[in-house]
Amino acid sequence: MRGHVVNLEVTSQPLAALDTDLLVVGIAQDESLSPAAQALDSEWEGLIGRVREDGAFKGKAYELEWIYPAPGKARRALLIGTGKVSAYDVRVVRRSAAIALRQARAKRAARVTIALPAGGRVDSNLLVQAVADGALTGLAGSDLYKDVENRGEIQTLHIVVAEAGGGASEALERGRKIAEAVNFGRWLGDEPANIMTPVRAAEEAQRWAAECGLECQVLGEDELREAGMGSLLSVATGSKLPPQVVVLAYNGGGGPMLGLVGKGVTFDTGGISIKPAADMHYMKYDMCGAAAVIAAIGGIARLGLKANVIAVAGLVENMPSGTATRPGDVVRAANGKTIEIINTDAEGRLVLADALDLARTRGAERLVDVATLTGAIKVALGDVATGAMGNNEDWTNQVLAAAKATGEPLWPMPLYPEYTEKLKSNIADLMNTGGRFGGALTAAAFLQQFVGDTPWVHLDVAGTAYTEKDVSWQMKGATGVMIRTLIELASSDLE
Ligand code: BES
Ligand code: MN
Ligand code: ZN
Repeated sequence: MRGHVVNLEVTSQPLAALDTDLLVVGIAQDESLSPAAQALDSEWEGLIGRVREDGAFKGKAYELEWIYPAPGKARRALLIGTGKVSAYDVRVVRRSAAIALRQARAKRAARVTIALPAGGRVDSNLLVQAVADGALTGLAGSDLYKDVENRGEIQTLHIVVAEAGGGASEALERGRKIAEAVNFGRWLGDEPANIMTPVRAAEEAQRWAAECGLECQVLGEDELREAGMGSLLSVATGSKLPPQVVVLAYNGGGGPMLGLVGKGVTFDTGGISIKPAADMHYMKYDMCGAAAVIAAIGGIARLGLKANVIAVAGLVENMPSGTATRPGDVVRAANGKTIEIINTDAEGRLVLADALDLARTRGAERLVDVATLTGAIKVALGDVATGAMGNNEDWTNQVLAAAKATGEPLWPMPLYPEYTEKLKSNIADLMNTGGRFGGALTAAAFLQQFVGDTPWVHLDVAGTAYTEKDVSWQMKGATGVMIRTLIELASSDLE
């Protein structure tokens, strides 16, 4: 895959001794230098100190200052601000590493050394993991169909730690595997909808399953009909592309079975309730929930986590045509509930209804679904935080804690019974929309009808699954949001 680093290594050599094309040194705001940076500064006769005293470089998060040519063995040096220590966490580390590696590539540096401070909430092993993760995710891009032949390539990345023993190389491997899962999920999202069709996505999931050592089953249209999944199938009827449901399983033993369920609408036109043209191209990202659960369970398996996990991805395309579902149509879901489809653009919940039910029938005892479900969550939380809605406070808190540990903003939203009442239909058990207000919550209330009393959390990533702007640490496109959180969740005790 593009954007890889050939060699990743941990080193505890003094910075001044390293023969490297680019030496990256993290500098915290309003703090003394880390011991490694301090030692470098004395070798460099106080140059870093003078740069800081000069006042232009304050060490604010992601602030950059080049030193070229560098005084010692390194060809070039880059000071990068890591911000206030009180706000320093693994996300700051990941982003700093990503920025550094993107800068390195732009400068054609092949051998890079990076020394970011450990401390506070980031111990030395978390630091190594987050640097490896940030470096590899930072270099991966969404420019899949551009000729980037002449782009520089990073040969070696040395990550500096105080002591190279004590689990540093395991932490590096963890970071690498997490990053590879995130990049795989992002790639699934970034591929356009004419390429990443439901069938292609299922094939890619199968290939990934083989690489990661997962069991994989793909259900086609006939099997879905046999299983009574009239809700999911109703979304696919307008498209020429057949629907697919992918079921991946990993048994690492121990704990209740975790079910990860993803919305995989490979393109969402809205169907007969068609969307406006502006921004419709972003609806290739409407399968990022499915991408996240497929990627995450692969990462979980490659890390060999002690967990019992299944992932269910509902893959369909939502198109208008002479065979498409009409507003007012009534369908029956696999759990027997009937649904009046008021708006064919509220299709994600129709897909998830049957996918959640399938995860339960396959034995899931805890559920998390990931879905680009509503524009309403984007209105509420913007592109900053993912929304979490659930039916069980303890389980929701566990998911929130996993998100916090990985530095992925996740915010709880309420799920009062009143939201469910808005879904009452004259003709069927449920309508698929709940009126104008609280759209993220009525959507969650709809999903709740398909999880029974299994502890369940719904993650609405409509605002966070892709970015519309380039930032210094990441190219615009799919973000892979919640993949790290799901992996972290599987590594925590689920009792
Ligand atoms: N895929 C969209 C939600 C979405 C919007 C994702 C913006 C990413 C960015 C979803 O299928 C949808 O169309 N939801 C409707 C629901 C409405 C018709 C009840 C919405 O949010 O407008
Ligand atoms: Mn839609
Ligand atoms: Zn959608």
